[in-house]
Amino acid sequence: MDFLQNIQLIQGGMGVYVSNYRLANAVAACQPGVTAGTVSGTALDVVYVRLLQLGDPGGHIRSALAAFDAQFQVDIGGKIIHQYLIANGKPPGERFRYGPRQTLYTQDGSQKMALPGDLPLPVQLLVDQELVELLIATAFAEVWLAKRGHHGKVLINFLHKVQLPLVYALYGAMLAGVDGIVVGAGNPEGLPQMCTRLAQHLPVTTEHGLLYRESGETFQVDFDPQEMAAGRLAQESLKRPAFLAIVSLEALVGVLANSPTEPPDGFIIEHHTAGGHNAPPQGPLKKDALDQPIYSIQDEPDFDVISRYNKPFWLAGGYNSREKLLAAKQAGATGVQIGTAFALAQESGLSLVHKTALLDSLRQGASDADLVRTTLFSPTGYPFKVAQLPGTLAEETVYERRNRVCDLGFLQQRGFSKPDPDGVRDLFQRCPAGPLSDFTRKRGLPFNAAGKRCLCNGLLAAVGLGNIHPTNDDEPAIVTLGNDLDAVRRLSSQGQVSYWACDVVRDLLGEDGWVI
Ligand SMILES: Cc1cc2nc3c(=O)[nH]c(=O)nc-3n(C[C@H](O)[C@H](O)[C@H](O)COP(=O)(O)O)c2cc1C
Repeated sequence: MDFLQNIQLIQGGMGVYVSNYRLANAVAACQPGVTAGTVSGTALDVVYVRLLQLGDPGGHIRSALAAFDAQFQVDIGGKIIHQYLIANGKPPGERFRYGPRQTLYTQDGSQKMALPGDLPLPVQLLVDQELVELLIATAFAEVWLAKRGHHGKVLINFLHKVQLPLVYALYGAMLAGVDGIVVGAGNPEGLPQMCTRLAQHLPVTTEHGLLYRESGETFQVDFDPQEMAAGRLAQESLKRPAFLAIVSLEALVGVLANSPTEPPDGFIIEHHTAGGHNAPPQGPLKKDALDQPIYSIQDEPDFDVISRYNKPFWLAGGYNSREKLLAAKQAGATGVQIGTAFALAQESGLSLVHKTALLDSLRQGASDADLVRTTLFSPTGYPFKVAQLPGTLAEETVYERRNRVCDLGFLQQRGFSKPDPDGVRDLFQRCPAGPLSDFTRKRGLPFNAAGKRCLCNGLLAAVGLGNIHPTNDDEPAIVTLGNDLDAVRRLSSQGQVSYWACDVVRDLLGEDGWVI
């Protein structure tokens, strides 16, 4: 993992599809070996199914899926294209078709399960095989496109909370030769070892902690790469990518560095000012007048302690200038990770409408605090940064107007109903941002659903891939950004011009990869 020592600037993973292959490719190629691009691994199955239904302009997805089939002598990519491609795109008023759902099944293919016996054994659960193929092929395609035409480094980002698809997308990315796996939103213990095993195509197991399980019950999903496509994906061993854990404080760095399985190869230390989801504040939750969680000195990491673990680390959250890079390096970091400034670069997947609205606000003098708030809207329970754009789910009226539906389900919680008189339980999936009646029927408390907004549909809408809601309205978008917009102001001359990913890199590193 020697290459990590040279990476000064990581373009952060930004879901859904904000950090797409175009952005990651541009950053990785900008100063190869010094800059790393990251694609978002979240919801790529839905993104690709929708891009194909929009006609796949330029044919990039078809090229990448064809490359997958050619490399492994399979017809998985071809099947996906055949199933979802609509030549010249679907009509604008028509809803997108769905791909296979992210659901867990019991061994008999149902969602019923008897109460366990006295000594419960691990229960094997299943995932739809069509979904597994789609996840592997689309992650391969996204990394393949991000790596095309240069020798720079490409990473892929996952949210640990979105657990079901992770192992398959991770394997797909590894098949395309991804250089690093970056995981946030949860403790990634066990995942570095999973990467090592997958590099040798060895079977791996993912444990799922289901709600309302009986004492001692455990649930797992097995994945054996040798069983995919009659072993064709597993012919040659793979490069083991670097594994970087996103954490906020030194305590988790310590736990992971002393992992009983395998430690990460490095850490991204993400401050609560970063875009996307953030770690909650330490201690009891207190909120300000705008309902934002209040952070304190307890939420500031101790870089001296982190340095003692002798692993490379990068600082994220407002580290968006040369001065801040310098300060990060003085604190012992190898470099920095930036998201917000890249999210507004031309190559990012954020739709033009929202980029323009954000730059317009800056042109009109909006302050950081006007434009970005820390909310508790996310069904994950983590704080989530939301840009205050009219017409988006940031607005209470837009949120109130949208009938709650849950048709994608990346953030669903899984658990059991109360057993019936015969001792049989239903394995349910529910989302705090889904219909309230559904959530409470599945043992959820209304308090935990209050104010929760559908990030799956909202984030897809933010990258121009929103569906039409069953009530015939467009799904409203939700846009996330970090608290510190200084770099965006600087690069866009206070919102007057647009800029490109390499402009962000040059702003930070200079022309020739500034190294100190
Ligand atoms: C639009 C946007 C989406 C993001 N999505 C994710 C994500 O899906 N996963 C993740 O680990 N971090 C996510 N982040 C955080 C970035 O990877 C990065 O750590 C952060 O943006 C750095 O701080 P900055 O926003 O001040 O530049 C996101 C950030 C932004 C701006």
